Amino acid sequence: MATVAELFETMAWGPAPEAATPALEWLDRHQRHFGHFIDGSFVPSESLFDTVNPANRQPLARIAQGSAADVAGAVAAARAALPSWSALPGHIRARYLYALARQVQKHSRLFAVLESLDNGKPIRESRDLDIPLVARHFAYHAGWAQLMASELPGYGPVGVVGQIIPWNFPLLMLAWKVAPALAMGNTVVLKPAEFTPLTALLFAEIAQSIGLPPGVFNVVTGDGSTGSALVDASVDKIAFTGSTEVGRLIRQATAGSGKRLSLELGGKSPFIVFDDADLDGAVEGLVDAIWFNQGQVCCAGSRLLVQESIEHAFLAKVRTRMAKLRVGDPLDKAIDIGAIVAPSQLERITSLVSAGEAGGATVWQPPDACPTDGWFYPPTLITNVGPASELAQVEIFGPVLVSMPFRTPAEAVALANNTRYGLAASVWTQDIDQALDVARAIQAGTIWINSTNLFDASSGFGGYRESGWGREGGPEGLWEYLRPTAPASSAPVAATPSSAAAAPDATGDIPGSTAAAPGPGAAAAPAPGSAPGASDAAAASDPGDAHGAPGASPTFGPGYAARAAVAPCFAAADGRAPTESEAPPIDRTPKLFIGGKQARPDSGYSRLVYAHNGTVLAEVGEGNRKDIRNAVEAARAALPGWSAATSYNRAQILYYFAENLSVRAKEFATRVERMTGKDGTAEVEQAIKKLFEAAAWADKFEGRVHTPPMRGAALAVPEPIGVVGVACPTEQPLLGFISLISPLIAMGNTVVAIPSEEHPLSATDLYQVLETSDVPAGVVNIITGDRDPLSQVLAEHDDVDALWYVGTAEGRTAVEKASAGNMKRTWTHLEPTHIEIREALRESTNIKNIWMVQSYMGGPQGASDW
Ligand code: NAI
Repeated sequence: MATVAELFETMAWGPAPEAATPALEWLDRHQRHFGHFIDGSFVPSESLFDTVNPANRQPLARIAQGSAADVAGAVAAARAALPSWSALPGHIRARYLYALARQVQKHSRLFAVLESLDNGKPIRESRDLDIPLVARHFAYHAGWAQLMASELPGYGPVGVVGQIIPWNFPLLMLAWKVAPALAMGNTVVLKPAEFTPLTALLFAEIAQSIGLPPGVFNVVTGDGSTGSALVDASVDKIAFTGSTEVGRLIRQATAGSGKRLSLELGGKSPFIVFDDADLDGAVEGLVDAIWFNQGQVCCAGSRLLVQESIEHAFLAKVRTRMAKLRVGDPLDKAIDIGAIVAPSQLERITSLVSAGEAGGATVWQPPDACPTDGWFYPPTLITNVGPASELAQVEIFGPVLVSMPFRTPAEAVALANNTRYGLAASVWTQDIDQALDVARAIQAGTIWINSTNLFDASSGFGGYRESGWGREGGPEGLWEYLRPTAPASSAPVAATPSSAAAAPDATGDIPGSTAAAPGPGAAAAPAPGSAPGASDAAAASDPGDAHGAPGASPTFGPGYAARAAVAPCFAAADGRAPTESEAPPIDRTPKLFIGGKQARPDSGYSRLVYAHNGTVLAEVGEGNRKDIRNAVEAARAALPGWSAATSYNRAQILYYFAENLSVRAKEFATRVERMTGKDGTAEVEQAIKKLFEAAAWADKFEGRVHTPPMRGAALAVPEPIGVVGVACPTEQPLLGFISLISPLIAMGNTVVAIPSEEHPLSATDLYQVLETSDVPAGVVNIITGDRDPLSQVLAEHDDVDALWYVGTAEGRTAVEKASAGNMKRTWTHLEPTHIEIREALRESTNIKNIWMVQSYMGGPQGASDW
């Protein structure tokens, strides 16, 4: 008689279908026609398209194709609902969110079946992962709605939010976006993916059934053109998940509009297996990493990096396991891999794999054929690929694993980071030191140690680099839907202090007037050849003034000839040779500051700096593209050391910076006054306070330990973004510069700063202060010159990770557009602005979530019953 073990090996799988009837009946109740959900009701539409079951190619329902007018109607409804929704006590919003969570639970099987029908994902996944996590997100965020007033004082909703989601986790992506938005008092217009709109429509129905106020949540269905109309509509924020290509288009379309933006884009995440790993556990992890949801997962572990010594043995285990994966009807409860969402996606997968094979890669697929009546693709393992090949670099978004060997941990990290993405990584080793070292070294938003594809509402998810910016989930995700309601502890940057407000108040703030000081080129600029007033004779004694003598104007950069008075610089007023007592000050032309050294500008030109009354104060270098390139190189070289310095060390250096500035306070105050005509003493005092503030935060802006419902924890660690370009405001040249660079360097970033275009001397005078304060070479680089053209170079530079810009509307538009190249994070402000330190610290960091589970159990992850 056969043993049970033998039966397990020999028995064929019987069908275990989940009934589709309740979901099909629900579709029938709607006559298989759906309009948009606007202002609390379903609005019929003339223009319709089919949504199709990818497992059998049969149409499921007709869906409304949203026009710009439909989008405008939904946005108007959301706008009208905003005041009352945001004014509700958090407790009341919490009740609504809790009701949504409960409704999702009560109808969980209907949601799961509908999702599997529309998307093709196995019912086992929609039932055990997607839908429980949806309920968990609403319940978790009900909690934040309840706690908002006490835990997030001074913050309110962003406003009307347009949300565009993809098809791979249709209802889960809805929950990730809608739950935090509604919890924080925003109203929403959601655009589901055209391939998978059904669960969003069912969700709209339950929103209606619980009496969610009309207009708070709206759904406009349609394709990319509907999404594009939503991006262009009068919303306050766009939250997008999808391809990097569309993310880039949205970045360009929103540039300069002032709309907030968060982007969760693609990935090519590494799955790293060291030779000491539990190999069987790692194989099970790999199944979840790349064959979960047919590999249509933005954080799929699609690049297997396996230590060379175990490569052969590990791949043999992987092939054995792959041969047991069952591809088939998504509604079969014993299926591992369902259908690919649409023929276009299947075609994309097929063509990428074929091209790779033609290029020499080795493709292995298990022998059992896939069903032919729908869009299926078998689990695939590809070896023999180079790290730079298309297969290793491009997001395939299917059940396709690319494997590469490595020898040392350093090589594993180098390969892992050899991607333009940075969404997630999975690290398998029994050595805790190795696990944590590698986790910290990989540039990605989520790292799973001895685990993979774990998600929970308590832990933020999002990318580094071209995987986008912003976080979804966890307290860190709330900031995407909040804005400060009052600049409570902010200090103005580029706001001009009025004389009455010269003394800083307790918070170090000066309630600034916004009057712009006259500068060169403005009304106060001297006419060519005009002589400045006698009262400026004192300028000659200003430290560092190149040519304090009235009328001095020795050299000219492009565009400056017309403005400058041509006069002999080293001559007495009557033209004779100067006597010894009349000798001019020693020429001291500040150069650029690159890599801790003063460097001559590549252009060979200098630009004139004027005093507030129009006299020439000095010259500074005219920075150009090459100078920026050199400065970025220096900042990149300094980054490993500075980002690895302890936060205590960085705090000490910032305090020392403040101390050394304070020693020279008078000189800096005089300089500010000479350039701007404003109270320099107050500005220097505030700058010193800003340095203290950044120093204070350096070792206190800490992470958290998230406790998702499982055995283990996720460490949410703030990490520096990297090399950050900073374009400083014109006014308050010292305070503006210090307010912007100090939080960045406190958090371990390195900086390439363009100081105030008109009053750059407050920054150039800092060279010696930086040197004497032990700020390592390359941490702060300063390039003087025209702000907007130089900012543009920074925005286009692929080795700059983020850009902060304070300036004009045109400048903001230009840098936001240009930043779409490598999807660098931008933080832009119009002058005058307020820089709130906590916001600045958040903008200086990425949160990395490092998940550590006590044992990897496989099976359903993330949400448990609650
Ligand atoms: P997609 O980025 O075109 O679609 C995502 C969403 O954006 C959909 O709702 C779509 O209607 C909308 N959309 C499309 N064009 C738009 C536009 N110009 N403006 C505003 N919204 C627009 O992704 P697609 O074409 O479905 O998939 C292509 C590739 O994108 C996949 O093979 C995969 O590599 C990647 N992808 C990544 C996802 C992720 O979760 N990171 C999700 C979906 C796709």
